[in-house]
Amino acid sequence: MSAHLPAGRKVRYGGDYNPEQWPREVWEADHAAFDLASIDTVTLNVFSWATLQPDEDTYDFALLDAIVERAVAAGRDVVLATSTGALPPWLAHRHPEVERTDFQGRRHVYGQRHNACPSSPVYRRLSAELAGRLAERYAGTPGLVAWHVGNEYGGFDGGCWCDLCAAGFREWLRARYGTLERLNDAWNAAFWSHTFSDWEQVVPPNMLSEHWRGPDHTAFQGITLDYRRFMSDAMLANYRDEKERIRAHDATTPVTTNFMGMFRPIDYHRWADDLDFASWDNYPPGQREHARMALAHDVVRGLKDGAPFWVMEQTPTITASRDVNPVKRPGVLRLWSWQAVAHGADAVLYFQMRQSKGACEKYHGAVLDHAGRTDTRAFREVAALGAELDALGDAVLGARTPARVALLFDWDSWWAAEMTDGFNRHARYVDTVLAYYRALWQAGAQVDVVPVTADLSRYDVVLAPMLHVLKGDVADRLEGVVARGGSVLASYWSGRADVDANAFLMDAPGPLGRLFGLRVEETDSAEPGVTNPVTLKDGAGDDAVAAASLVFEVLVPEGAEVVGTYGAEFYAGTPAVTRHRPGGHDGGEDGGEAWYVATALDDAGVAWVVRRVLGRHGLVGPYADTDDVELAVREGADGARTAFVLNHRSDAVDVAAHASGTDLLTGRAVVAGETLHLEPTDVVVLREDPQR
Ligand code: GLA
Ligand code: ZN
Repeated sequence: MSAHLPAGRKVRYGGDYNPEQWPREVWEADHAAFDLASIDTVTLNVFSWATLQPDEDTYDFALLDAIVERAVAAGRDVVLATSTGALPPWLAHRHPEVERTDFQGRRHVYGQRHNACPSSPVYRRLSAELAGRLAERYAGTPGLVAWHVGNEYGGFDGGCWCDLCAAGFREWLRARYGTLERLNDAWNAAFWSHTFSDWEQVVPPNMLSEHWRGPDHTAFQGITLDYRRFMSDAMLANYRDEKERIRAHDATTPVTTNFMGMFRPIDYHRWADDLDFASWDNYPPGQREHARMALAHDVVRGLKDGAPFWVMEQTPTITASRDVNPVKRPGVLRLWSWQAVAHGADAVLYFQMRQSKGACEKYHGAVLDHAGRTDTRAFREVAALGAELDALGDAVLGARTPARVALLFDWDSWWAAEMTDGFNRHARYVDTVLAYYRALWQAGAQVDVVPVTADLSRYDVVLAPMLHVLKGDVADRLEGVVARGGSVLASYWSGRADVDANAFLMDAPGPLGRLFGLRVEETDSAEPGVTNPVTLKDGAGDDAVAAASLVFEVLVPEGAEVVGTYGAEFYAGTPAVTRHRPGGHDGGEDGGEAWYVATALDDAGVAWVVRRVLGRHGLVGPYADTDDVELAVREGADGARTAFVLNHRSDAVDVAAHASGTDLLTGRAVVAGETLHLEPTDVVVLREDPQR
């Protein structure tokens, strides 16, 4: 799955720019200010459908022509969006079918954005037509570097449940299953008398049919799982409609759309092949989310097999959509932007270049505020970062992450685990993945976050947290990792369901049981806050006690050795953490290991386990013991290594430099072992000297 990124000479810097909202004098001021901040790239035309096409038969590109011309004249590169992320009023008025029907079954009327029914033939025809006309007109524009189709597919509630979508769903099911017999089998339709005898009897699963309480409560996981897959594919078809029309006029400019990181409604792995490169919008939900952001960057980089990606949007200051919208503290914008570059971003772009004049985003942060000031703290920080990115030049462009660790991320597992009755609704997929990722991150391990179909042969360590759904040959390939001496780790609720979300007719963890050398006999659950002490013993005297919570699987080892034991409940003294060496202890040091963690350990407990797994392969990094100091590395095709050392702490810290090299931001020579002093939010970008 190769990636095709826009060419460039440096990490791109700029963002969404919507000058259609203000008079032309302001455009002049905008571009003058952009020069001060080293802005080289603007995304234009994200939400202009109503202006571009005032009615069904009329197109008018005059305003966009002027905006593009002005940007080109200023020497800016342009990302051109297709404007299909928000419908014009006339379209909804004339063709009500384009409006979505929500999960409650309510057909919407005109309003909002991200609001089109993906199955509407009218929407499909007119969105593709608009994309085609834009491509026809603007292909070959100097500085046009990428096409940006739609916007944040899947917002606002992830789908549509109308009659057109129902028909599309039936078609999708016919293609997947061929016969009703196979459909009934996949859905285990014999339960509650659901055997379908005609395709027309199938309806979308929502609050009028299979669901109660909301999207996570469904009587039939198989039906809901298929609907989510279908909805992902239906929106992908919209993207493809537009991309195809763009390609008719522009054979080469890369095409993408902006994703939302770990966004549950859409399986981005199903989309990855159709993107020329991946991009995402980084709006962390809190102020201390550095590990979560790192994970999301790695998820996005994993979409295109490790190729660099873009941060298409981030706010320079505040968001507007949350209940409470704190400003980014001094230095934080810089820190988070460098973190993105450290994880593989070849562009760091903002939403937005100038603040909206009105409507719900008028207070969302921007490079330029309503007054257009360039003497604010925010603008100064934006400009300073622009200067640093200029100075960095092409040093890391195209460089990749040299990861020896893979973490499996799987939308089917996410969906299925969170919509399944039984066990514990408080145990969440991303929380579980993040707990393991955080331990890897703190240990300074470079991680590829990959789909379950990825080639695992290049990794020493593979983590499979909550791999609830086992698809294809993933169990065999995990066995392969251990067979050649690698390490695999899985958590509770792995190997529970097949591709249709049906249970395996065998002990849990299903086909993974052999690899981990155990079976799960019972699964206990507790309210949040209730803990069970797990004693962890490594045989070398470095023992620990971790608090376990939420889920407590009771294990019967069948070859696995016990590493951790529960301290309470009727299963006190039984295994909570195990390690299996399928090659046997006599296999010596070279044999691989399969670790199983049967409960939700606290962070210290997860770290205890993960450090041991990494340690066996020499993958614990040099700053692992300094909390919240991050190390991320990019490696060029020529082998040149650039290490990013990022201080996410709120205090200054001294660490010993892990390598000799040059700090690319200051030009200072660094000698391995010398003290690196990092102020709060500080960043060192160290071009390492070549290893002899
Ligand atoms: C999203 C959208 C933008 C804007 C920002 C504001 O990422 O793509 O159009 O709404 O959010 O947070
Ligand atoms: Zn629909």
